[in-house]
Amino acid sequence: MDLTSTLPPMIDLSRKKDGTNDTETFAADVAEGLGTSPKSLPSRYFYDATGSRLFQEIMALPEYYLTRCEFEVLQGNRQEIARHFFAADSFFHLIDLGAGDALKTKILLRELALQQNAFDYVPVDISGDAMRQLSDSLQQEMPSVDVQAVVGEYFKALEWLQEHKPERKIVLFLGSNIGNFKNDESISFLKSIRSNLSPGDKLLMGVDLRKDPDTILSAYNDASGVTAAFNMNLLRRINTELGGDFDLAEFMHYPIYNPHEGVMRSFIVSKKAQDVHIQATGQTFHFDAWEAIHTENSHKYSLKQIEELGNTCGFRIETVFQDTECRFADVLFTVD
Ligand code: AVJ
Repeated sequence: MDLTSTLPPMIDLSRKKDGTNDTETFAADVAEGLGTSPKSLPSRYFYDATGSRLFQEIMALPEYYLTRCEFEVLQGNRQEIARHFFAADSFFHLIDLGAGDALKTKILLRELALQQNAFDYVPVDISGDAMRQLSDSLQQEMPSVDVQAVVGEYFKALEWLQEHKPERKIVLFLGSNIGNFKNDESISFLKSIRSNLSPGDKLLMGVDLRKDPDTILSAYNDASGVTAAFNMNLLRRINTELGGDFDLAEFMHYPIYNPHEGVMRSFIVSKKAQDVHIQATGQTFHFDAWEAIHTENSHKYSLKQIEELGNTCGFRIETVFQDTECRFADVLFTVD
């Protein structure tokens, strides 16, 4: 029997209109990031199969409090969250941006599934593999939930949703993924979500809160070196997919937290002066001794900042859910 035919349909928006493929885009982004001073690489390239597996390991680390805190928040407040979602008493699309394995969303889905035909679930992710697996696992675990997975980038997915899903919408943006954006990017991102929503629609957003800087730094500099491997996976990907000759032993993971800005920044530092050749771009990139590549920002917020950010983008806070130690918040915004 063909098992795939029994799976719910998947919308694939991941193909590029201009005909460039993923490797070409990756090569162009790497050439730009390494060819500019100071050097940088986009954090979205962390998540190939190896990177996704390493991120799963990160989420289980004793130092990485974020995931456990958000679990606690969702687990402890799932009934109240469901009440807020159902309050308008009309069908809604539950749109999960960056759903991944949706382990956290499943806490809410189990609660929401108690009320049949009240919603459908629209997970959105750039990983087609992840969306296939998620559709499959939901079919097994919660067959009563209607699932319509979308493969693609957030913005394309939002455009598609605006065109094809006119009903009430509740958007999930969990895991402090908002933290990866620069300040101006998070504003334009939230504004673009808002432009695809109508009065009465909601956004539940997970944010990591400001706290003891040592707690934050440890979460990105774990003793077992998993986060280092996650960061260095960018260079490994360039080697295997773009024909790079990075000597990983000559580079090091270096994260640093700036408590003034509330930004955790990750770098890869070159331990010596060296040249790296990348076949796919035909270029050689020079690294001075101790020159750094900036690879990721992870913003930490105060609740006041989150309220301001929301207000700037046309959202009003309905409720804030927090863990007992106030390390992490899931903020429920509404659109007036
Ligand atoms: C998935 C973006 C929320 O910034 O905490 C974990 C990724 N980077 N360890 C984060 C990450 C290093 C994570 N987010």
